[in-house]
Amino acid sequence: MQQQREDFVATLTHDLKTPILAANRAIKLLMEGDFGAVGESQSRILETIHQSNEALYKLVQTLLDVYRLDSGAKQLCLVEHDLSETITHLVDELQPLALARRVDLSARLPEFARTVLCDVEEIRRVVQNLLDNSLKFTPPGGSISVTLTQSGDVTRVSVQDSGKGISEEDKPKLFQRFWQAAGSGRYYASTGLGLYLCRKIVELHGGVIWCESTLGQGSTFYFTIDSASFVQESEQAGA
Ligand SMILES: Nc1ncnc2c1ncn2[C@@H]1O[C@H](COP(=O)(O)OP(=O)(O)OP(=O)(O)O)[C@@H](O)[C@H]1O
Ligand SMILES: [Mg+2]
Repeated sequence: MQQQREDFVATLTHDLKTPILAANRAIKLLMEGDFGAVGESQSRILETIHQSNEALYKLVQTLLDVYRLDSGAKQLCLVEHDLSETITHLVDELQPLALARRVDLSARLPEFARTVLCDVEEIRRVVQNLLDNSLKFTPPGGSISVTLTQSGDVTRVSVQDSGKGISEEDKPKLFQRFWQAAGSGRYYASTGLGLYLCRKIVELHGGVIWCESTLGQGSTFYFTIDSASFVQESEQAGA
């Protein structure tokens, strides 16, 4: 029964993607004036519909990712990659948002980072989710920094913020599916799946993810990727 229910939701979520994308395309064309001139108030309404649609699309994608990771169907696409590049891109991309929220966003990277065997898109999602949270839960005037350190085979990324922090009672629940602290759900289309996905992706890489935080003083989320664990796994697979 449980399996059938999960399969049904996965199929439904998947089938929602096409109409959402089609609607998005139509809205874009309308906004660009392909069907005639658009007035200022109409344009505002179209922009709102477009944003809601984007949020819905993101939600559908997230749900699909959860089912893919939970069912074990997700295969990593591993390549040697310099994570400092991913971090720099993300920080540059999010800088306008941080600026608008008057939050200082910076990266601390080693001068010469070694490459790491990882699925670049997936690891990018992990850092993006952590940054997304820090931006959500850090009030104006605060700061966020992303740090990359490497020691032996272990590469560690941390995202530190001076935000609202997490209580001792809430810490064990952070990485659970759909969990949100009381009062965090007011953000549009936020589901409590971000950290769950982060944990799944990091674990698929043979790594660990954890959080250190003091309520009212900020949080630091860490994750590691251990190159040695991949070597062992591929040796075992080859044996
Ligand atoms: N940096 C942070 N500071 C304070 N609380 C946090 C932080 N990151 C996560 N949390 C708490 O953990 C909860 C779960 O985070 P998670 O990323 O899984 O979900 P979300 O951000 O609420 O939704 P989504 O990621 O789906 O948009 C958040 O709702 C919030 O209560
Ligand atoms: Mg989140």
